[in-house]
Amino acid sequence: MKIIEIEGSKKLNGTIRISGAKNATVALIPAAILTDEEATICNIPEITDTEALCDILRLLNVKVNRSTESVVINPQEMINTEITEPFSKKLRASYYFMGALLGKYKKAVMYFPGGCSIGARPIDLHLKGFEALGATVKSENNKYIVEAEELKGANIYLDIASVGATINIMLAAVRAKGVTTIDNAAKEPEIVNVATFLNNMGAKITGAGTSTIKIVGVDHLHKCFHEVIPDRIEAGTYIIIGALCGTPLKIDNVIPEHLDSLLSKLEEMGINLEIGADYVTVLDSTTKLKATNIKTAVYPGFPTDLQQPFTVLLTQAHGKSKVTETIWENRFMHIPYLKDLGADIEVKNQTATVLGPKELKGCEVVATDLRAGAAMVAAGLIAEGKTTIANAEHILRGYEQIVEKLSSVGAKIKIKEI
Ligand code: UD1
Repeated sequence: MKIIEIEGSKKLNGTIRISGAKNATVALIPAAILTDEEATICNIPEITDTEALCDILRLLNVKVNRSTESVVINPQEMINTEITEPFSKKLRASYYFMGALLGKYKKAVMYFPGGCSIGARPIDLHLKGFEALGATVKSENNKYIVEAEELKGANIYLDIASVGATINIMLAAVRAKGVTTIDNAAKEPEIVNVATFLNNMGAKITGAGTSTIKIVGVDHLHKCFHEVIPDRIEAGTYIIIGALCGTPLKIDNVIPEHLDSLLSKLEEMGINLEIGADYVTVLDSTTKLKATNIKTAVYPGFPTDLQQPFTVLLTQAHGKSKVTETIWENRFMHIPYLKDLGADIEVKNQTATVLGPKELKGCEVVATDLRAGAAMVAAGLIAEGKTTIANAEHILRGYEQIVEKLSSVGAKIKIKEI
């Protein structure tokens, strides 16, 4: 097991550069198999989720050439074999191979995906989408066989604006016959990034980033070069850390518009920000913070993936704040550990009430999932004394070089294998 150790109460100063977006990368890598030619994707983050997907590519006999920040994927000799359970379970986003393999070979065999335990995380909307395109789905003991004689464009309405279902249906539909429309599609920037990649390969997708996406099926996709957008969740996490202990802290390589909901909340709390074209600087973390309420929502609402780190900030705000989680039913697992650190938080149903400000004192905590882990890091940075975070592997799934990045701005943080 990996543990992260932090000696807290240090002020952070300098610049942190944001890596490529995890949630775009994890869809782009499977999407690359839709062509028979070479795809080069740059600004790929070095996180364990990326490695897990490259391992799946190798299992499918796809050539993967990984260098710093980029990957060249060549599926010329690819074989459509079953993605076995250990590979499927390594991460949530393995499910994008279902759409991509179905789109390319009209058949995908894999297992129910893994990922953070933040809720039931069903994939019914993905499967309904595939069925609407003409596929049949058989499932037994977590194994899914999805196949079609032919995929035909269809009008698909998503009951929930699911990021995963929107992308997966797009992947299956790009090479289908005719026109597919996805209504109530998710609008996250990562979806736009994936649609741009597919269009660069010759797909005909319009409307990505709005709630209606139209895909005109094409026979062939060709080679391309693509760049991953900056990770808005990694950026948001470091901006929150800047608000907790920056003096000042500049977060570079950011698309600030992707973070509107967070930035306006921070300004409402009294945090002084300088927002540039591609950076956000937290000018001062000594301001008296005002309490506020957040409610997670689909993009452009407040991102659920920033809810856990943001809760740490609320422990330092004056008065009563409320955090309502509407996307995942099990995303308050960080709260007991924040309470161990000294926070005053009560959870009732899907709302956490935070009373602040409270001084945090370092202790032993656990990263129960990726973003809960990020919350523990944020808390450890402001806690007095030593905080030890167990199960740090979760954090490395989504934050490239987190220890190095934080050390470079003055944090006392290290990672150990025990
Ligand atoms: C993606 C992100 C994750 C983020 C989430 C919400 C990736 C790899 N992960 O996850 O970091 O927290 O969006 O912004 O991009 N649902 C169903 N049936 C389905 C699919 C989803 O009921 O078939 C429900 C889910 O249980 C959840 C909601 O829809 O309550 C949103 O899920 P979704 O947008 O699909 O999340 P993911 O794509 O898994």
